[in-house]
Amino acid sequence: MNAATPHAASPALQQTALLASEPERAAYRDYDQPGMDRVRNFYRNNHQHQTLDFVRAKKAQWLGFGQREMTPWAALEFLNTLVDESDPDIELPQISHLLQTAEAIRADGHPDWFVLTGFIHDLGKVLCLFGEPQWAVVGDTFPVGCRFSERIVYPEYFALNPDSSDARYNSENGIYTPGCGLDAVHMSWGHDEYLYQLMKPYLPLPALYMIRYHSFYAWHREGEYGHLTDAQDRAHLAWVQRFNPYDLYSKNERPPVLAELKPYYDELMAKYLPAQLRL
Ligand SMILES: [Fe+2]
Ligand SMILES: [Fe+2]
Repeated sequence: MNAATPHAASPALQQTALLASEPERAAYRDYDQPGMDRVRNFYRNNHQHQTLDFVRAKKAQWLGFGQREMTPWAALEFLNTLVDESDPDIELPQISHLLQTAEAIRADGHPDWFVLTGFIHDLGKVLCLFGEPQWAVVGDTFPVGCRFSERIVYPEYFALNPDSSDARYNSENGIYTPGCGLDAVHMSWGHDEYLYQLMKPYLPLPALYMIRYHSFYAWHREGEYGHLTDAQDRAHLAWVQRFNPYDLYSKNERPPVLAELKPYYDELMAKYLPAQLRL
């Protein structure tokens, strides 16, 4: 694998100390289990309203940053008041999910920037607390401006999206040229892109890939959209895939205790992040 930065760890280094077992994993992301109306409604709204115009408008609205300032801890504590409607698996406080993700990464001996990535990867969900609807913040992401893949969750709801019947946007490549690279592709708007843009100055490229594409299941799990990727994307796909089990399968009911771990995460955040985030 192409290690993009001197921070990059060996991709071979992977154990599963704090992850769910293989049989347990089969039960995750089951959208057919009872009580999924909440998730179904979420994706109906998401797929209907995530158009190219919408994404461009949200980028213009949020990527200037500087509307608010808070410490990384304050942002994490603020985030803790949110319950993610798109998550079929568990209603766990956000900070517990972040700690579990990060601790599972740490237990497997990965480098500190990878642990930090696990700890902050959902921080962009603060957008919900700034008044954005959940369908514009959480859930799986996908490219807009070209045909929606059938392998995206609840693909039937894309019939409600006006871009599906717009000839500029509904061909395989849409507004893009083949091999243009995902950096040139507009992803559906959400916490992933927002946090990626916020963290760009601070973290190594593999970490930025994990943050930006962690909800892009159609790519990292289903193998779709390869025609839009470039060499850098293909070299970093394995990092996104390496991150995914920690995000997904460390969602268990045995949350680590924040008070015990705070000094470690204080130090980690101070090493990489500014004292104040400009959100
Ligand atoms: Fe996420
Ligand atoms: Fe997550």
